[in-house]
Amino acid sequence: MKNGERFLNLIDLNDYPVSWWKHLLELGHEIRLSPESFSHACDGKIMGTLFYEPSTRTQMSFQTAMLRLGGTIIGFDNPATSSVAKGENIKDTTKIVSGYADIMVMRHPTAGSVKAAALTAECPVINAGDGGHLHPTQTLTDLMTLSEEKGTLEGLTIGLCGDLKNGRTVHSLIKAMSCFKGNRFVLISTKELALPAYMKDILSASGHAYTEAESLDDVMGELDVLYMTRIQRERFASEEEYLAQKGNYILDRKKMAKAKHDMIVLHPLPRVDEIAIEVDDDQRAMYFKQAKYGMYVRMALILTILRNDGTPAPVVKGRIRHGRCSNPKCITNQELYLPHYFTGTGDTVVCEYCDERTLL
Ligand code: NCD
Repeated sequence: MKNGERFLNLIDLNDYPVSWWKHLLELGHEIRLSPESFSHACDGKIMGTLFYEPSTRTQMSFQTAMLRLGGTIIGFDNPATSSVAKGENIKDTTKIVSGYADIMVMRHPTAGSVKAAALTAECPVINAGDGGHLHPTQTLTDLMTLSEEKGTLEGLTIGLCGDLKNGRTVHSLIKAMSCFKGNRFVLISTKELALPAYMKDILSASGHAYTEAESLDDVMGELDVLYMTRIQRERFASEEEYLAQKGNYILDRKKMAKAKHDMIVLHPLPRVDEIAIEVDDDQRAMYFKQAKYGMYVRMALILTILRNDGTPAPVVKGRIRHGRCSNPKCITNQELYLPHYFTGTGDTVVCEYCDERTLL
């Protein structure tokens, strides 16, 4: 078997069919109703968590999920205290840890980094966020929240507000929700933080309608779901650029008064200032509950991957080509030993690590 095809890695949810996501949501639901029935499901198994970037919810919910399944955990949450600080590359660190653990969860500041790790890892790898690119397990969290709280994943008008350019949770969620019929997307951001072109390509190709808006007030009344996001300070080139965007969108009680009575507010958290604290008491504010759903669906994910009941592993789709990805934030421009995989033909192709269009 070729590298990257051996395990049920979760790099991008869209590598798997919707039926597999639904299985995870159903299992997550079952676990939520009866967590004690699963408390020995992963006895003796070890999960490695490699967090090269700060995290509270994702890391702790993965760790709690594994502990609640009877497994144990190893890992780091500060690369400065690991051999990464000595200059070790991703391949070596992840190859070693994946040889110690049965399943590995990784977060890294660079797009495509987790895919790169999965090419040579010796156990299944889960993407817990790769730069501004994707965050599939946050999306599972979001899907579980929608299916439990709205009862459907179809026919929803979904407003996404804030940093649509750098927000990996937004990118993953749009990719996933564009696989369900009848959804409509309202993209609410400043021009500077608009959804990247490659994501708009994905939306257009899926045939879903989307509109762009600069005012949250103007669109509040249309929405079934409002997905608020933080301005991703750490992804800006300068503090000035960040400060120009900070505070542009703040959801408060006044805006909530314009929304449907059954609209729900999601946020991957952490919140900075984009949702006023006064909104927390509104019954439509779902973000704390959402974080709890994340733990159950991650339990379902760990269990499903470790059981590996025959779900086919995704294969590397792209062909190796000469030439570089033009995205400076792509892992292939940092870890130069990586093979270059691109999909598509002709001169304009798509980099399989970061999904950006590039001219070869
Ligand atoms: C998100 C992330 O890391 O992308 N947080 C999370 O995992 N819940 C959102 C964010 O940091 O803004």
